Amino acid sequence: MKYLMTALIFTFLFTACQQPQKTENAGNEKEVMTDKKSKSNAVLLQMVKKLPEYNWQHPYKLPELNYEYDALEPTIDELTMKTHHSKHHQGYTNKANKFIEQYNLTGKPVVQIFAEITQHPVSVRNNGGGFYNHSLFWTFITPGGSDFNGEVAEAIKKEFGSFDDFKTAFEKQAATQFGSGWAWLVMTPEGKLAVTQSSNQDNPLMPLLEVNGVPLLNLDVWEHAYYLEYQNKRTEYISNFWDIVNWEVVNERYLMAKKVTQTL
Ligand SMILES: [Fe+2]
Repeated sequence: MKYLMTALIFTFLFTACQQPQKTENAGNEKEVMTDKKSKSNAVLLQMVKKLPEYNWQHPYKLPELNYEYDALEPTIDELTMKTHHSKHHQGYTNKANKFIEQYNLTGKPVVQIFAEITQHPVSVRNNGGGFYNHSLFWTFITPGGSDFNGEVAEAIKKEFGSFDDFKTAFEKQAATQFGSGWAWLVMTPEGKLAVTQSSNQDNPLMPLLEVNGVPLLNLDVWEHAYYLEYQNKRTEYISNFWDIVNWEVVNERYLMAKKVTQTL
């Protein structure tokens, strides 16, 4: 009996000593991950400060297009462009202005709001994202597209193997986004190129996404972006997208973001 009691006491003490250590290690790992994520987000914000959108001021305005609504045909039809820009994007812009004012965020750049998005209401997240994502999208497309060249083209070939391999990777993100959302090419805080996807109006500047980075190119895969012309054929819309990509704009953003990563 004496030996049994001794064994039970020993077992209890051993277990009690081990348990806190396990919890402490798990806590440390979580802290390291959180610390790494917050450092990456700080770098990301430095990168975005060099891009034009950092200076967009509230109240935001619907950006004018550099082309007519019918100029992207046959890739995107006139009615889709008109509805998408003048109705959908205008709606996001109006609501972004309303909610950003309602929650006293008018003094903050919209990209700063994204960096701390978990602290803000979902109405700010959805409509601020809707305003921002579409404002970029219109600049990434142009009638007839432009040639795939410049430093970004070289970087894409180096990172993905070839232009075709990159297109396959990007198209996969666009095609597999379940429901409404976006596909993205980004530069990560480490200066690498990556493709990713986001739901609804989220974007890679929001820390809650798995992949964060400066947007270099995006594609709207909400049904409102293609359904009138393509109906359920989302993959056809995605593969035709390459005919209208404005690589000059993508390259400009790549060079600006790269410059920042080289000074950090
Ligand atoms: Fe859209």
